[in-house]
Amino acid sequence: MLRNDQLDAWDRETFFHPSTHLAQHARGDSPNRIVARGQGCHIEDRNGTRLLDAFAGLYCVNVGYGRPEIAEAIAAQARELAYYHAYVGHGTEASITLAKMVLDRAPAHMSKVYFGLSGSDANETNIKLVWYYNNILGRPEKKKIISRWRGYHGSGLMTGSLTGLELFHKKFDLPLAQVLHTEAPYYYRRADTAQSEAQFVAHCVAELEALIAREGADTIAAFIGEPALGTGGLVPPPAGYWAAIQEVLARHDILLIADEVVTGFGRLGSMFGSDHYGIAPDIITIAKGLTSAYAPLSGSIVGDKVWAVLEQGTDENGPIGHGWTYSAHPVGAAAGVANLKLIDDLKLIDNAGAVGAYFKAALQDAVGAHAHVGEVRGEGLLCAVEFVADRDNRVFFDPADKVGPRLAAALLERGVIARAMPQGDILGFAPPFCLTRAEADEIAGKLQAAVTEVLGAG
Ligand SMILES: Cc1ncc(COP(=O)(O)O)c(C=O)c1O
Repeated sequence: MLRNDQLDAWDRETFFHPSTHLAQHARGDSPNRIVARGQGCHIEDRNGTRLLDAFAGLYCVNVGYGRPEIAEAIAAQARELAYYHAYVGHGTEASITLAKMVLDRAPAHMSKVYFGLSGSDANETNIKLVWYYNNILGRPEKKKIISRWRGYHGSGLMTGSLTGLELFHKKFDLPLAQVLHTEAPYYYRRADTAQSEAQFVAHCVAELEALIAREGADTIAAFIGEPALGTGGLVPPPAGYWAAIQEVLARHDILLIADEVVTGFGRLGSMFGSDHYGIAPDIITIAKGLTSAYAPLSGSIVGDKVWAVLEQGTDENGPIGHGWTYSAHPVGAAAGVANLKLIDDLKLIDNAGAVGAYFKAALQDAVGAHAHVGEVRGEGLLCAVEFVADRDNRVFFDPADKVGPRLAAALLERGVIARAMPQGDILGFAPPFCLTRAEADEIAGKLQAAVTEVLGAG
């Protein structure tokens, strides 16, 4: 076995890490961690440090670490048939079974699933399908995509553009011209603090209507949104938001893409966020929870309305000009089948709902009354605590103070991984669905101690 110091040296010399301060890492100025194994809600690194992973990796290891059922399904598939492509009608038992399982679980009016590898590539697929759809319908001008500020949809050229976070645009010449952004459904951060929740929803709708009027509905193809904002702050939508937005989109013949990369397959305590909030999308993006990240696999679930036009398009133009070598990879598909079965067998979505509610209450009890806690929020096992300089007047901390990262570091020292969300002093919690009440209490108790250390007794 390689020594840790050898791995550390190679890591600094050779490995280009995503979302990392490259210079600090290469110089050895920032800590790294070489992760060795995982079990349940815990990971362990090469130094033997055991951590309670309250963010399930990147909110993706939904069934928890170390599940032999999935590992064995992967191994069996690799032994039997590690690879065959899915072009010109080829499939495997695993990829066909998984498509059926996904459609059986999806909201009504969904027709087919296209499999990719990541949430980013699935959203790239979605935008291509939307453009193809409008070309087939003879509406070549109807191409712009509306996303929300603080939405997260990936980090490719198009998907990085859809992502409404400055870090993903700055110095990359993004967003692309076809992408427009509108108000984030983030009630706590509303510009006008006098607004009620209903007034704020009306404001979001008015902003969307104004954008559509400015650009012209005949130039706008689709609206993309996460049912509950993820990376942009972990924010459930205000009551009535999705009903009101969908009414506007329907009136202007604008397709709706529900990006369920985080919410799909149970994170909110419902199979899909679309079920949870009464969303009837035309296309759904899935990834993370599809395999619980045991293998890379994503998907675009295409609804009846779009599918009918795609069929028309290939009748007129020949086979769809879209596909990757690894689309519907059999090993990923085998992981997906085993994962979705495990979620059913262990009733993990019920657990996400029940323990999620318990966990949010525990966070509220532990820190909700602290003078620097502005809000404790969440739905199912997607929870956040937002920190502020002045709670009564909702004054945010100066980002330069790095309060969120300091809190995450203090929590990590106590053995719990939470995520300092990138825009705001927000600690994010999205643990595996097998979280127990005892583990929820442990996270809440350690959070209280970390908050006291960084921000005082409050
Ligand atoms: C809602 C959402 N969409 C898309 C993506 C992109 O997925 P990936 O990182 O697999 O490309 C993410 C990743 O976190 C996400 O949260």
